[in-house]
This record gives sequence, C-alpha cells and structure tokens, in this order.
Amino acid sequence: MTEKDKRGITRVPVVDLSCPDEELVARTVVKASEDWGVFQVVNHGIPTELIQRLQKVGREFFELPEAEKKVVAREAGSVEGYGRRIELDIKKRKGIVDQIYLSTWPPSSVNYRYWPKSPPDYREVNEEYARHVKTLSEKIMEWLSEGLGLGREAIKEVNGCWYVMNINHYPPYPHSDSFNGLEPHTDINGLTLIITNEIPGLQVFKDDHWIEVEYIPSAIIVNIGDQIMMLSNGKYKNVLHKTTVDKEKTRMSWPVPVSPTYDMVVGPLPELTSEDDPPKFKPIAYKDYVHNKITFLKNKS
Ligand code: SIN
Ligand code: FE2
Repeated sequence: MTEKDKRGITRVPVVDLSCPDEELVARTVVKASEDWGVFQVVNHGIPTELIQRLQKVGREFFELPEAEKKVVAREAGSVEGYGRRIELDIKKRKGIVDQIYLSTWPPSSVNYRYWPKSPPDYREVNEEYARHVKTLSEKIMEWLSEGLGLGREAIKEVNGCWYVMNINHYPPYPHSDSFNGLEPHTDINGLTLIITNEIPGLQVFKDDHWIEVEYIPSAIIVNIGDQIMMLSNGKYKNVLHKTTVDKEKTRMSWPVPVSPTYDMVVGPLPELTSEDDPPKFKPIAYKDYVHNKITFLKNKS
C-alpha cells in the first residue's frame, strides 16, 4: 500500500488483492479502514471485460429518451427504479444526479418491474456483476471482522444482508468551478463498492483536506459507511466524501451499497465492548437509522 504518489501527494490507499500473502492484504485493508475509511482494490478478480460491459449497458440506459427511462421510474413508496435526486435538484438547484437503484440480494427483494428492458442485456450483465461484487464484499467483510479479533462471519451476518446496484449519472454543468454533485456525506449503509467512469470527481476528507480519488481503470473503490463504523464501535472510520461534476463531460459511477436489512438492529458488536471500553453508539433498527438520518439531512438543507 502506498499513501503518497511520486510527487509526494497523499493518495487513497490502493490494495493489490493478487498479492499471495493474504494476511498482508487483510492487514492492509484493516489499516486503511481504520485510518481512512476508504481504499481502492486492484486485481480483485472481477473481469475487466465484465466491468466494461456493465458500464456500457449503464451508459446505454441513460442515453435512452426520457420517456423510455421513465418506464422504470421510481414510484411513491418505493426506493427502487429510475429517478432524480430531488433534494439536490429542487431544493438547492445545485446539482443534477440521475440514478437507477435496483435491489439484487436477497432474491426475495428483487423486483424486475424496475429493471430496464433496454438495452436487452442490462439484466444479465448487472446480475453477473452483482454476483461477483457480493463475493468480493464478503471477503472484505471477513478481513474486517478478523481485524476486530472476531470470527470471519461477524460483520457479514449483520451488514451483508442486502445488496443494491445503484448508478449515479451526473450530466455536465458548464457554469461553475466548485459544483457539487453529491454533497459531503458518509454512507448510511455499511460498505459501498464503487466503480466510476474515467471522469474524476469523487473526493474524500482526510486530515482537514479534500483528496481526489485517483481514477484507476477497473479498480473498485471501497467506502466504509455508518453501519460498519457502529458495529466496530468506531474502530473503522466512515469516510466523509462528496462528488464534483465536470464542465463538459458526463460523469458516471456504479456504487453497490451493502447493508443490513431494514429490520435488523445494529450497534457495537458485544464482544468489542466492556466496562473499560463502553459502547459508543446505541443499537438502532436500520430502518429507524435511515429514517432519522434522512429527516436530519432534509431539515438541514
Ligand atoms: C456516492 O455514491 O456517494 C458517490 C460515488 C461517486 O459518484 O463516485
Ligand atoms: Fe456515498
């Protein structure tokens, strides 16, 4: 893992998963999660060709006429489907981020009503990527559990229960230099695995600075979110991040949020706390946590 580039500039840790020393890889992932709450993985085993196909079908969907995209529009009461981030568009007039949000795991949560029929291979490619990314995220959660001195299933049993395929589509915005796509936030879920197109724009906050995440083709960016921060009683950091928008080109990203299901109650894992090391967070059902955070963010803006 290198934290500085050739010019001495601090960069987000990059972990090569093809390194034969798995213990070293695990230690590096744990250290990056403690110090940064974000890292990139390369040589992660997900075929580059599949990532390129995923990006292609995503691009093709967003290039469809609005009326065709609206066939899978999000409806009242549903989080799934295609839509615009209202809080950014209407309230602040700050940014436009179009999204499509589809549940892929558990099988009972999948609703093909919201899955694009065009391009025709959208579903096949997204399902294949979802399978690969689940395997990768489970491996990372195993390392993170062991990094807490726990059995490898500990984090996965709570945070590894619900998977979503999301796409962010940020159209270019020619008029501003410091234009935000997504406002600074920590992820509400536990772990997010992200690929992006070649347009830079993701920035993470570390030691009082915003640091641009370098674009590495086929790399996957891994963010620790609120749920793993809480499970670990604050040992792993939930990284603060935001996105900027390009003046001329469309930026896209494909985050896969991994989370507990709504009914699961999440708090510091009991094995990690004691009288000397009391829990820093109160256990709360994931659905209440989501509700409280969204209400708080709405009132703030
Ligand atoms: C996010 O989902 O928070 C942003 C990911 C990105 O657009 O790079
Ligand atoms: Fe995020």
